[in-house]
Amino acid sequence: MERTLALIKPDGVQRALIGEIIARFERTGLKVVAMRMLQVDNTLALRHYAVHEGKPFFPGLIKYITSSPIVAIVLEGRQAVEVVRKIMGKTDGAVSPPGTIRGDLGTDLERNLVHGSDSATNAEKEINLFFKKEEILSYTRDVDRWITATKMSP
Ligand code: RTP
Ligand code: MG
Repeated sequence: MERTLALIKPDGVQRALIGEIIARFERTGLKVVAMRMLQVDNTLALRHYAVHEGKPFFPGLIKYITSSPIVAIVLEGRQAVEVVRKIMGKTDGAVSPPGTIRGDLGTDLERNLVHGSDSATNAEKEINLFFKKEEILSYTRDVDRWITATKMSP
């Protein structure tokens, strides 16, 4: 099963939207396999957002992601990367469709509440930045067979 990294960014924590955001991910059937709250320091921020270095919004982005605690979550499931990106919506909340986290809960391009890995390759890299191997749990939920058809029939 595919895994992806989701972050509830500082504005999500400050606006008391942790539960709301996790619920939106969880109710798709994606499984939480790791989760922790942390304060991102400059080193981690620079590594996580290295791809944006040199862009005009980069200094503001580093300041934002280090400004207050975040919640990091590893989600597992069929096409987890795509599913999380779909639920998050577009980068700018003002033009993100209704039903998405950013469309329903925000109006800004920079204060956009959540992060989600944009490919399976980046997901693996990002998960390794935020979690040790042993912090990612492998477990079965009784409901899993009702969420994804597998070789095991209901
Ligand atoms: P994310 O990486 O956080 O999941 O968001 P994303 O893929 O939708 O957007 P991305 O292009 O990767 O940008 C990373 C974050 O930088 C801020 N941003 N500001 N002022 C701007 O033009 C601008 N563009 C992006 C946002 O916080 C965005 O989520
Ligand atoms: Mg991105």
